[in-house]
Amino acid sequence: PARARPAGPVSDARVDALRRVPLFVGLADEDLAAIADAANEVEVPAGQLLVQPGEAGTGMFFICDGTAVVETRREHVELGPGQFFGELALMKPDAIRTARVRAKTPLRCLALDRASFRGLVATHPEVAASLIEVALGRLAENAGVTDD
Ligand code: CMP
Repeated sequence: PARARPAGPVSDARVDALRRVPLFVGLADEDLAAIADAANEVEVPAGQLLVQPGEAGTGMFFICDGTAVVETRREHVELGPGQFFGELALMKPDAIRTARVRAKTPLRCLALDRASFRGLVATHPEVAASLIEVALGRLAENAGVTDD
């Protein structure tokens, strides 16, 4: 069933949060609204584990508020509002999580499940291309072949 939306710029809080995600720069409001509709809000207290290495990936997370810590084998990386995690295990059907991710502070995220992720990359090749860049950078960093 169609949900009523006010005419004009979508002012939904979720869409505002997605507007702050650099990955989505250039997407129209209606595209952001579609992603926002597909997303689930996830709110966890400081200290909570969100992603465990070795698990199957069920979703990816866009941080709206708070700080997450990614614990790779090499280092701890902090991620904040506008950044995302959990994409790597969604980019291949049988991939597993590559790192532990924990909430450093109370954390509010928008989460996309596997099906919504597939829909996103299928409809937005430019988003898929940016995702590949970020993913390769992270894998290279974890492999020790880059410094950033
Ligand atoms: P995934 O492997 O699904 O689950 C763990 C997540 O940690 C991974 O996706 C990335 O989103 C994130 N991650 C892994 N390595 C790094 C890194 N070097 N920098 C930032 N985030 C990372």
